[in-house]
Amino acid sequence: MNIMVTGGAGYIGSVVTEDLVGQGYRVFAVDNLIRGNCAAVVPEAVFYQVDISDQNALENIFQSHRVEAVLHLAADTSVEESVAEPTRFFWNNVAGGINLLEAMLKHRVNKLVFSSTAAVYGQPDKLPVTESSPAKPINAYGESKLMFERVLSRYGDNFGMSSVSLRFFNVAGASQRFGADHHPESNLIPLIVKAALGQQDPLPVFGTDYETMDGTGIRDYIHVLDIAQALTLSLDYLQKNSGVKVYNLGNGGGYSVLQVIETARRVTGAEIPIQICPRRPGDPAKLIANSNVAKREIGWQPRYPELESIIESAWRWQKEHPQGYNNR
Ligand code: UD1
Repeated sequence: MNIMVTGGAGYIGSVVTEDLVGQGYRVFAVDNLIRGNCAAVVPEAVFYQVDISDQNALENIFQSHRVEAVLHLAADTSVEESVAEPTRFFWNNVAGGINLLEAMLKHRVNKLVFSSTAAVYGQPDKLPVTESSPAKPINAYGESKLMFERVLSRYGDNFGMSSVSLRFFNVAGASQRFGADHHPESNLIPLIVKAALGQQDPLPVFGTDYETMDGTGIRDYIHVLDIAQALTLSLDYLQKNSGVKVYNLGNGGGYSVLQVIETARRVTGAEIPIQICPRRPGDPAKLIANSNVAKREIGWQPRYPELESIIESAWRWQKEHPQGYNNR
């Protein structure tokens, strides 16, 4: 099966491309390389340096290969940046996505798996969050992803575009070959393993006055390999089913920032010095997923639910790639 992966040189894109190629899919990885790394694309995939806002370039790919489905992962993802620069998030995450959909429709590609986010929920009143919990984003990142989910719903009704939107909770960890290498890095676990290697010192803890057991933010961390599994299962699902679906993907357990740091100290044996800082704008206090619907409907079963194994894999990757992909 021929699959286009947008954001194919990004963190999740590189891992899922590796996974798909390993299962015999033919992958066309599309990335503008503003945040992605071409070194993160397995050589068995066909790589295109293309921005999703470039409809002609996308159409050329659809014209040259019989693409059967798209995994749409290309996006701006930093919550902090989205608070400062909302417009860029709406352009890239909403308008860019519509551009992709138009190119797909012209070439009769009607299956899309979309990487959405827990940030669509904002600060939920009840935990764990189900797909029917109210979607009330508190930052432009979450807003932009929710807007695109709604676009997908309309494209389903009007144009027969079938889609699965996966609302990822906090993705972390690494495969054997590929891990997180963002510039700048803003996610907790990559920063922690850098701190453990002495590359990020001290680690800021954003807010100790949340209504949580130790005052720090609580998140549901999920292994990037379990995300790759869900993306592949969603493709299988769309082979057999049509319509528009939305699923949460998390482990159903929450860890505070201080608990993650404590676990990382155990896993790495490093001290990991911290510095207490004010809250980071746009951050909710707690997010924990109920992912029963994904388990039931697409057969998703996380293989690496323990926080230790997520941190261990990130730690191993950081030690093996202290300068990331080292191409900057
Ligand atoms: C956010 C999004 C998530 C998205 C991810 C991608 C929300 C609710 N979630 O995750 O959907 O996929 O960004 O970038 O918007 N923290 C520190 N010190 C640090 C870094 C983080 O204390 O140096 C804290 C944060 O305040 C937060 C937790 O660690 O409580 C996790 O932060 P992070 O890893 O950045 O992910 P989110 O912002 O939760």
